[in-house]
Amino acid sequence: MRKFTIVVLSLLISANVVSQTDVKDTYNVLVDNTGNISLPKEYRQNWTFLGSYFVQSAPTPTGETSHDMHTVYTQPYAVTHYRKHGNFPDGAVLIKEVNATKTEPLTTGLASYQDAPKVIFAMVKDTKSRFAGNAAWDEGWGWALFNPGDPKSQTTTWKGEGLNNCFGCHIPVKANDWVSTQGYKSVLGK
Ligand code: HEC
Repeated sequence: MRKFTIVVLSLLISANVVSQTDVKDTYNVLVDNTGNISLPKEYRQNWTFLGSYFVQSAPTPTGETSHDMHTVYTQPYAVTHYRKHGNFPDGAVLIKEVNATKTEPLTTGLASYQDAPKVIFAMVKDTKSRFAGNAAWDEGWGWALFNPGDPKSQTTTWKGEGLNNCFGCHIPVKANDWVSTQGYKSVLGK
């Protein structure tokens, strides 16, 4: 019986360590000493799918619009923490893919589904103001943009305006720590 208790206890302890490792690893694995952010590998397989937004894009100068599927992922521990405390822990990473869609009639009806990614965004929670001199870090988050297939962030050169492009558009949810959680309620619990 004692042996059984020890085995169960050590399993519980290691499960807890493993679950927190994913956010604790952020500043060892995904962010270097100067604040450069890399795209995590295998997040689609290993992270939690938070939710999706189906978005009709703003028209291009020639008037074309597209319907994109925005799919958002975070580490499993970030969800556990959010459900308990109502906020994202230091090291939480939110990944948003903007995916093209395909539409075809299926037996369910006219169906649209996600196709190739067009661009990938990331926000990295930083409760310690680590990179004061780095323009990609502000308001408690690191902000990154990736071209598909390239793990190096392009944020500071994006459309020549860098971070302002991220902030300006997230202002409606500033009071919600800059995150549009209304689309992730079923996972985050609120
Ligand atoms: C055109 C406005 C716009 C711009 C520009 C923009 N965002 Fe967002 N972002 C949004 C909106 C609105 C959402 C949530 C709904 C959606 O995806 O349509 C969102 C969602 C996200 C998410 C998923 C978490 C959340 O807040 O829901 C991440 C991560 C993200 N953006 C990062 C960035 C980064 C990094 C940049 C700059 C490189 C950026 N965004 C620029 C409007 C924008």
